[in-house]
Amino acid sequence: MSILEVTGVGKGFRGLRALSDVDFRVDQGEILGIIGPNGAGKTTLFNVVCGAIAPDTGTVTFGGRDVTGAKPHRIARAGMVRTFQLMRPFASMTVQENVALAAQHERLPARRLRDGSMEIVERVGLGDWAHRPATELPTAGLKRLELARALAMKPRVLLLDEVLAGLVPSEREPVLDLLADLREQDGTTLLFIEHIMAAVMRLSDRVLVLDQGRVLATGSAEEVTSDPRVIEAYLGEEPGDAEA
Ligand SMILES: Nc1ncnc2c1ncn2[C@@H]1O[C@H](COP(=O)(O)OP(=O)(O)OP(=O)(O)O)[C@@H](O)[C@H]1O
Ligand SMILES: [Mg+2]
Repeated sequence: MSILEVTGVGKGFRGLRALSDVDFRVDQGEILGIIGPNGAGKTTLFNVVCGAIAPDTGTVTFGGRDVTGAKPHRIARAGMVRTFQLMRPFASMTVQENVALAAQHERLPARRLRDGSMEIVERVGLGDWAHRPATELPTAGLKRLELARALAMKPRVLLLDEVLAGLVPSEREPVLDLLADLREQDGTTLLFIEHIMAAVMRLSDRVLVLDQGRVLATGSAEEVTSDPRVIEAYLGEEPGDAEA
């Protein structure tokens, strides 16, 4: 059964069609990679799916319920959680406190909140940083913290917006392992926007290609990356954007 169904979604910003008639489904436990040139509408799609912006047309169904236009916190509490392309942790708090804050909606007793958040901090590999101010984290650490904060919401569906951007290859590996583990161990459904093709190839069961707000292709990573229309869409991009 599809856990997420997007039907006929369109969104315009003044004259610009950021999304046009976007249709796709994601099965429970599936990993869907989302690729496309800069400005294709990938982040806008996440914004619509998670309730940050209401679409002009179309519907978003999560777990069989229509959540189109629902408030982001409601969608998050229902189990669909996203990470942000730009990370903004609470500067005055430690890494662990930042994660605890994200878990707070569960109204857990203080001790369980602390233990639970510590477990997540360790799971993302930030154990040594737990009690240091979040502002001291380097980029790779901030990315992990962003992931940890999303995990603290116990997502059934997790949407990741370029979690690997700005990481060197050796820093990407543990994050990819963690994402694979989330599906294997926790059964989490993942949608991930990513420019790093090696990661898309390794992780995705299926890939959705967006171009100029439209779904250009869907299929296995091999299928879409050998599709002439997809190659065409990427022509004129900065070489680094489709980094191997
Ligand atoms: N709030 C907004 N107001 C006006 N235009 C917007 C807004 N958000 C996005 N856009 C425009 O919509 C288009 C799609 O943007 P979006 O951020 O979704 O692209 P993207 O595929 O995530 O790109 P990137 O790979 O660079 O992150 C772009 O032309 C962008 O400038
Ligand atoms: Mg984006």
